[in-house]
Amino acid sequence: MSDSPQSDSIGSSPFWLAYDCRVSVFKVEGGSSLQGEVFVPGAKNSVLKLMAATLLAPGTSTLTNVPDIEDVTIMSELLRRLGCVVAHAGSSITIEVPERPDHRADYDLVRKMRASICVLGPLIARCGAADVAVPGGDNIGSRGLDMHVEGLRKMGVHVDNEHGYLLAECEALTGASVFLDFPSVGATETILMAAVTARGQSVIENAAREPEIIDICSMLVSMGADISGIGSSSLVINGVSDLKPTKHRVVSDRIVAGTWAVAAVMTQGDITIHGVPHEHLALPLEKLELTGARIEREGASIRIQMQGRPHCVDVVTLPYPGFPTDMQPQFIALNAMGLGAALVTENLFEARFRFVQELARLGADVRTDGHHALIRGRESLSGAPVEATDIRAGAGLVLAGLVANGSTTVYGVTHIDRGYAGFVETLQGLGAQIQRVDD
Ligand code: UD1
Repeated sequence: MSDSPQSDSIGSSPFWLAYDCRVSVFKVEGGSSLQGEVFVPGAKNSVLKLMAATLLAPGTSTLTNVPDIEDVTIMSELLRRLGCVVAHAGSSITIEVPERPDHRADYDLVRKMRASICVLGPLIARCGAADVAVPGGDNIGSRGLDMHVEGLRKMGVHVDNEHGYLLAECEALTGASVFLDFPSVGATETILMAAVTARGQSVIENAAREPEIIDICSMLVSMGADISGIGSSSLVINGVSDLKPTKHRVVSDRIVAGTWAVAAVMTQGDITIHGVPHEHLALPLEKLELTGARIEREGASIRIQMQGRPHCVDVVTLPYPGFPTDMQPQFIALNAMGLGAALVTENLFEARFRFVQELARLGADVRTDGHHALIRGRESLSGAPVEATDIRAGAGLVLAGLVANGSTTVYGVTHIDRGYAGFVETLQGLGAQIQRVDD
């Protein structure tokens, strides 16, 4: 293989043959009422952090209930580059962590998946150093890292930002008291993973309380960490000298479950969702009841039944237990075909309303002003080609396509594949007319 920058070939194939330019799209025919049962896999926003947390203990850890999504593939590749042996078997992953992992996360992987930043805390803890590419912004907003960095600095880490990399180094991690300006999920995780083997006690005040944070705390405790206040906004961590590998089941994906719940309401269907505690979706389910849906909660199953057109509902996104920003696009899609009008306020990611321009292509009546969106429900939407700009926007557009008249083609479905395992197959199983086709 030539290294020459002028070379136009990859391996022995000419560039234009080696580059596979087929792109999948989803073709959706509106009008089906979705009925049936679905099982929810493990949460994307948990499994990636749990995979990173395995770095904290040399030896072999196992994760079960792992979703079959693109982001897990990227995280597996990142761990392999750090020296781990990663093996997938069905919905389990085993990760063999070496005594001395490498400590560099390169830009080519970080740019594909912003969550790669979650290796920062464990690498500092294990290697005393971490060189992690700065993820930059994405389609939902600028996404700062200042709280991650400030927290680590308080623990004695020296952090520089050079040539697009965060270069972190420390002689000895020391426990510290960190007050977060905002209950950031990512910053809570970075500081937590650095603190579990730091010298002395750390306290994270105004910590995030998402079920995914509880999940990582439980796994760390099973590895030998000493954490109290789990599930509250004040986490107290007493550093231990070392951790051991573990086996852990990933918490179910409340956002995936919530997406199917909205699908039931929009398509005036009847869906039972298994495997996710309804408490994790308390506010979204209450909102769906306000649309007119009937909801039965029993153990880890939720049945959503809807008859007639839903009423529009106001939504304000906030950190958990507030309304999740990751369900905002799905609720905008619902409001776009609802009775009446609604105001949706986005408090976490400033660019998340970008997708409403795509929704407008289906005839939605949405006006945005800063972090507010006013949606006036339309009796009918009409199918059109649209582009998914991020995972949840993609889900929202497919939901709108399911109720629009005629055909909708959704481009940019790689975003959806990053976060939803078997998205098309699940919808087909519920009776939706949706196909993945090569464009
Ligand atoms: C995680 C989730 C994402 C979800 C979000 C909020 C993963 C992989 N992603 O993202 O799906 O939408 O939580 O529930 O788990 N911020 C700063 N400085 C920081 C850290 C955050 O300004 O140091 C800001 C961000 O720019 C954003 C807000 O805080 O505006 C929330 O971010 P955060 O809670 O950290 O979200 P993520 O962990 O990035």
